[in-house]
Amino acid sequence: MNSQALTEQEFAAIDTATGSAHGLPNRFYTSAEAAQLERDQVLARTWVCVGFASELAPASARPVDLLGLPLVLVKDKDDTMRVFHNVCRHRGHKLVPEACSFQGAIRCPYHSWTYGFDGALRGTPHIGGHGVHDTPEFDRATRPLMQVRSEVWMDLVFVNLSGDAATFADYIRPLEVRWSEFLGVDGLNEARVASNDERMELTLNCNWKLAVENYCESYHLPWVHPGLNSYSRIEDHYNIVAGDWGAGQGTKFFEFSERAGIELQRFSAWPEDKLKIAEYIALFPNVLLGLQNDHIFVMLLLPSTHARTGAVVLRGRAGRQRSQGGRAKDHGGRLARGLPGRRWCL
Ligand code: FES
Ligand SMILES: [Fe+2]
Repeated sequence: MNSQALTEQEFAAIDTATGSAHGLPNRFYTSAEAAQLERDQVLARTWVCVGFASELAPASARPVDLLGLPLVLVKDKDDTMRVFHNVCRHRGHKLVPEACSFQGAIRCPYHSWTYGFDGALRGTPHIGGHGVHDTPEFDRATRPLMQVRSEVWMDLVFVNLSGDAATFADYIRPLEVRWSEFLGVDGLNEARVASNDERMELTLNCNWKLAVENYCESYHLPWVHPGLNSYSRIEDHYNIVAGDWGAGQGTKFFEFSERAGIELQRFSAWPEDKLKIAEYIALFPNVLLGLQNDHIFVMLLLPSTHARTGAVVLRGRAGRQRSQGGRAKDHGGRLARGLPGRRWCL
């Protein structure tokens, strides 16, 4: 057994009634080895979020490291997103060191092997000797980029590294069912992709799970967020223990927009008798979502080491403002219609 793995006694101490249960042992917050075990045994086996599709233009790529595992998000010219291991099939050089766009192919910086946006190996310069770019001994078709199973939902790019998790539809269904109470069957499609000024990027000098745990409780509000506590009071909060897929908190009395004097359109299906309800759910493992009747936000936690976490926050708005002609526009005046389904209308 891996020396970092939970012992039976440790597991028993966690897996008991909340009032007497222990949290994870310290090493799962402080040890690089335990983080690697967690990556391979937990994160790799489920769907984990690694980025936002809207951050990539067509024909571009964006590298992301997940606890030391290099991945690259690639969007082709037709807007199709794929995720690959960010490793060249030749000698293992990091294929895409930084976010960039491409003319026609992805080129490795080392010996210039090239790949299509679909991962197919296209070019192998000088493989057969100087000026000889093909050789009968080497079949390019046998060396495509290693693709990772991926799905885009609400602009969020999820991957399943092991390749054998349940379908993404099964993974996300419990959240969609829970929030259908507020959104109807298709309410999230009313949200719009956030503009840049609604995006924030942070580096958290802590283990990613601390951010999740903080998100799931409200009793630090009066001391840490007295302003927030004035319109989302601790006494109005309730706990959400949804199951394996998520946990968090909700409030029965949220009126941020009224207090801030902001008027936003509401999600069209939101029931009148639930207008003050807002929910904050940590979708297992690394997505923090906040849903209100007139806006939604997401915080993506990207664990880079056991002690450092990249966090990207996007805020979005529900509904569509009506211009005089009755056509749907976002707050910047950009037409919101025609956005692909399942994309945030933030
Ligand atoms: S390592 Fe990429 S081309 Fe050689
Ligand atoms: Fe907080």
